[in-house]
Amino acid sequence: MTKVALVTGGTRGIGAAISRALAEAGHRVAASYAGNDEAAAKFQAETGIPVFKWDVGDYDACAAGIAKVEADIGPIDILVNNAGITRDGFFHKMTKESWSDVIRTNLDSLFNMTRPVIEGMRARSFGRIIVISSINGQKGQMGQVNYSAAKAGDIGFVKALAQENANKNITVNAITPGYIGTDMVSAMPEAALQRVIAGIPVGRLGKPEEIAAMVVFLASEQGAFATGATFAVNGGQYMA
Ligand SMILES: NC(=O)c1ccc[n+]([C@@H]2O[C@H](COP(=O)([O-])OP(=O)(O)OC[C@H]3O[C@@H](n4cnc5c(N)ncnc54)[C@H](OP(=O)(O)O)[C@@H]3O)[C@@H](O)[C@H]2O)c1
Repeated sequence: MTKVALVTGGTRGIGAAISRALAEAGHRVAASYAGNDEAAAKFQAETGIPVFKWDVGDYDACAAGIAKVEADIGPIDILVNNAGITRDGFFHKMTKESWSDVIRTNLDSLFNMTRPVIEGMRARSFGRIIVISSINGQKGQMGQVNYSAAKAGDIGFVKALAQENANKNITVNAITPGYIGTDMVSAMPEAALQRVIAGIPVGRLGKPEEIAAMVVFLASEQGAFATGATFAVNGGQYMA
């Protein structure tokens, strides 16, 4: 079953592993990114997966970007809302800008990216929408009030949208990764990172490929009965 897949933030980190795994599963994949042209060009050269640049926090840019992807590759069957950022800091020192940047990139993006594709999915009676939320949207994390709020919002989005679209053979699911070895986690102070690893029963960071494998399952025909669910892939760090 070859389908057309779009992975936001699909050129680096977890998203890059998802893009590669979906391509290996036989899908036609497009990967979007925000601004790191060098990483995107390297990813495209290595994988042959076409890349597209726009800001997932901007609705008009998403609508235009999706129209270009659909013109180039075809109607989107599988949407992976993966792009995300952190702007960490205690709430009592948090700026409005840090709050808003995180909410627009991690939560508003779900509206911006999903609204332009949902009508087509409903008309074609097939769709797979997968949202990369976070363990910290489930358990909360000090220093991440903005991020925890956005990622918890992602889970509510998934549960409601799944109910609206189950009768159209469209599934909507969230994955909540624990700490995965990407640039986002490398940005943490080393001491804080070691404390996190000490709290992971599996005893290590996760690998991007371990999230990608779950995406491939959820995107497949065999994933049709899983919808509105939140799949934790966190090394046992948090059991909701
Ligand atoms: N790493 C973890 O431990 C972890 C744990 C739980 C959840 N997550 C979630 O998993 C997802 C991927 O994380 P990651 O660690 O792979 O991140 P990453 O390595 O920092 O990569 C982020 C990707 O998202 C893109 N992006 C960021 N802001 C964007 C915007 N406004 N518009 C379009 N694209 C944008 C980036 O594009 P550029 O390359 O152009 O910057 C990049 O491709 C995020 O939603 C994150 O919150 C990560």
